[in-house]
Amino acid sequence: MRTNYIQLLMVALLITTLAACSSSKKNYTVMTQTEDNAMVQINTPARYLLLPIQNTSPEAQVLVNTGNADDTAMDIRLAIDSIDYYVPLALPLDGTSFTVDISNLPANALAWEKMEVSDTFDASNTDRFRPIYHHTPLYGWMNDANGLVYKDGEYHLYFQYNPYGTKWGNMHWGHSVSKDLVTWEHLEPAIDRDNMGHIFSGSSVVDTNNDAGFGKDAIVAFYTSASDHNGQIQCLAYSNDNGRTFTKYDGNPILTPHDGLKDFRDPKVFWYAPDNKWVMIVSADKEMRFYSSTDLKDWTYMSAFGEGYGAKPSQFECPDMVELAVDGNPNNKKWALIVNINPGSPFGGSATQYFIGDFDGTNFVCDTDPDDVKWLDWGKDHYATVCFSNTGDRVIGVPWMNNWQYANYTPTTQFRSSNALPRELTLYKEGNDIFMAANVVKETEQLRKESSKTFSFDVNGESQIDQILPTNEGAMELIMTIEPQKVRVAGFELINDLGEKVDIYLDMAELKLVMDRTQSGLIEFGEQSEPHFIENHDNRKTTSINYVNDFALATWAPILKEKEYKLHVFVDISSVEIFLNDGKVAMTNLVFPNSAYNTLRFYANDGTMRVKDFTAYKLGL
Ligand code: FRU
Repeated sequence: MRTNYIQLLMVALLITTLAACSSSKKNYTVMTQTEDNAMVQINTPARYLLLPIQNTSPEAQVLVNTGNADDTAMDIRLAIDSIDYYVPLALPLDGTSFTVDISNLPANALAWEKMEVSDTFDASNTDRFRPIYHHTPLYGWMNDANGLVYKDGEYHLYFQYNPYGTKWGNMHWGHSVSKDLVTWEHLEPAIDRDNMGHIFSGSSVVDTNNDAGFGKDAIVAFYTSASDHNGQIQCLAYSNDNGRTFTKYDGNPILTPHDGLKDFRDPKVFWYAPDNKWVMIVSADKEMRFYSSTDLKDWTYMSAFGEGYGAKPSQFECPDMVELAVDGNPNNKKWALIVNINPGSPFGGSATQYFIGDFDGTNFVCDTDPDDVKWLDWGKDHYATVCFSNTGDRVIGVPWMNNWQYANYTPTTQFRSSNALPRELTLYKEGNDIFMAANVVKETEQLRKESSKTFSFDVNGESQIDQILPTNEGAMELIMTIEPQKVRVAGFELINDLGEKVDIYLDMAELKLVMDRTQSGLIEFGEQSEPHFIENHDNRKTTSINYVNDFALATWAPILKEKEYKLHVFVDISSVEIFLNDGKVAMTNLVFPNSAYNTLRFYANDGTMRVKDFTAYKLGL
């Protein structure tokens, strides 16, 4: 009996020891090497190893190790003690032998036990704040739109993408395509992070004349490779299958900063017909540098613009430059240089400004003084806007709908960030100055599913429209013309059943259009801070907040005194976009209401407001 007991003890001890150095779990085996470092063996071939993620975990390194020098470790926040969601790690299926090597993950982390080997990954939506009609990645993190290009009937939206979590990291170029700018099909990432670095932002062109020699009509993509070991260097990749897959050029990098500049990124390439050459603009700290090339591979420095120009403090990022007819007059064309800056927004964090001027193929010369600042959008969640190439006379920009101040903390889980609606950019003259209008593209009309009656009414004090659209689920478009008649403040609140609201109004005394989201729903998330007050920017109130993100605020834009204002508002599950007077003012803000806004309360303080031709549309895909 005693012998049996000792034998049993010995067996138990052996099992425990084995479990400690090799835990067999369904279809994978963890082979322990050291404390926080192990090799995972997949026992049954499958498409994915599903990795459990905990957003607050530090990054572990995960490498699909096939013994090839190109194998690249990804930084992944593997679960330590709880699981927020899973991400798929694609495994080789062609018979190549491999292991999945994981390092910097504590030996007692939950992830060791909770990985799953699977042929499928369920990406069906689990986020209540996922927009109904705005583009988002299927899962994972997204920031800037990249490499926007139109070819053979398809708009390609590439974007800064982390497929391994919903915080910034592992920059790939994610990829979605659309035939109409509103319905997007998700495709596999087009350019993956590699051992040279992250694949940062950039642009693409269609090489119609095969200048680069990669094939006629190849899509040539330019991006910044960013890493601690190489810094920020410009690279290219090309695609001969309509942008689905890219080959990285073996002569990369094609451009490095001559002065060793640290912030040197986001190459924008376009064709400059008068000189028969390609031009590249690279953001270089507080200026933009211009280069030229005839073969897309060898680039020569030409000039720089921007030092001392625009809002300050700033960091120039994501340039674009387009030539447009002023007021549609083909004999009066001007160049608009789009400069995204972070920080520098009037409301904190990131924003998009532009400069109007002339470009002679070498130098950009701005029409206005360095202190003059023009904003493409007056909200807090409009950044990294760049335009599609190859769209003929149309110039269509796509913003990232977020702000670096809180982008990593917005209250979603499975995915993070969406794009604001694509906008058609045009130039118009006002006084002696030229401005850029950003109006929503007309393709959005396809989203209209149901409409209210069109009607007009006067507001004296208050008036309410209940149930704007009976089946409204939080996605709608409101169109109206507002005539403020001897009124100081007039506008409307977009309210839900919980009393959460977005207040949109014209302040006719201050001549401002304001969107106030201080009571819009969830307004505090992310990193906590000492309680502090933030300015509401409409001069009417300040808000007390307990988080660092400065989300709870109102944004405003200056307006001219006019008899009436055409207001176009797009509401989705987590955003409100305003286009005033065909995009002469655009204002884009995120909101996180706990239920859909379904009531409109119009008000006119000390006067009357006439609302003309009010129409509401329910929107959907
Ligand atoms: C802008 C930006 C770019 C950079 C990218 C990295 O939001 O900082 O300058 O290329 O994001 O993801």
